[in-house]
Amino acid sequence: MTVTDHAISLDVSPSTGHIGAEISGVDLRGPLESAVVEEIRQALHTHKVIFFRDQQIGHAEQIAFTRLFGKVTPAHPHEENPPEGFPEILPIDNRRYETNLGRKRTSYDHSWHTDITALVNPPAASVLRAEILPPYGGDTAWTNLVAAYEGLPKELRDFVDTIDIKHQFAPRAVEGSQRARKVAEANLVTYHPAVRVHPVTGERALFVSPGFTRGPREIRGFSPDQSGKILELLWQEATRTEYTVRFRWAPGSVAFWDNRATAHLAIADAGHLGHDRVLYRTTVEGDVPKGVDGRESESISGQLFLGS
Ligand code: SIN
Repeated sequence: MTVTDHAISLDVSPSTGHIGAEISGVDLRGPLESAVVEEIRQALHTHKVIFFRDQQIGHAEQIAFTRLFGKVTPAHPHEENPPEGFPEILPIDNRRYETNLGRKRTSYDHSWHTDITALVNPPAASVLRAEILPPYGGDTAWTNLVAAYEGLPKELRDFVDTIDIKHQFAPRAVEGSQRARKVAEANLVTYHPAVRVHPVTGERALFVSPGFTRGPREIRGFSPDQSGKILELLWQEATRTEYTVRFRWAPGSVAFWDNRATAHLAIADAGHLGHDRVLYRTTVEGDVPKGVDGRESESISGQLFLGS
């Protein structure tokens, strides 16, 4: 697919049968024509995660690019140390995790998750830019939650349409660490419909976010044991290999994902190698999810996470 807008030519090359596309012919430093922004938005909604290579952008350009698609939120509800002057930038930096999380690791989380679904309005989209990478390892994978929903038997789809799942920060940080203290002080807890309707595409996505539903496992109206078993099944369906794409980063790579239709996984194969891995994330303010019958997510603790 090639789109031409004056001198700009955008090439969108799908990565797999269900998810992902690489886009070339665009310089994210901008300025970007509105037709190009629209084409990027369409590619995002079609392919769920899109990738750009060899981009020469810094924090300011990344924030400006993100803002083309909505309000940009602060880095993270629990982030204390964004880079000076850039409160919207979340550093994903292995060097911070020993102090912040109390563990040596490549990324802040190595479970499948959709970004910050403990919030009542999780981000609509995220942009992640790579700066320092290990020579090998440290890839990221994404899964298409619309394909996962559509792949369920009808009887199971009818059931999951009706249930609500509790999302919260799981105790992934070591006790006493900075992150564990933040979570203990002000945990965010929300019931989300297990299936959310995408406000732009109208598609239904299996809205399970293992990283935020694996702590105390709770589906409204079910016992912890029943909830755990149902969640195991849904996590497995959401992350079937055929719905996923795996991306090999290089410095200057940028991934842009639809957080309303995907979950992602930082693959934990590089933490032990002793190489640094540094990426920077920005997020677009999200809406409150709605289920298939129009019911909205319900906040138990925490507030709307708003951007500017
Ligand atoms: C993220 O979960 O936003 C970061 C993914 C990664 O470190 O690869």
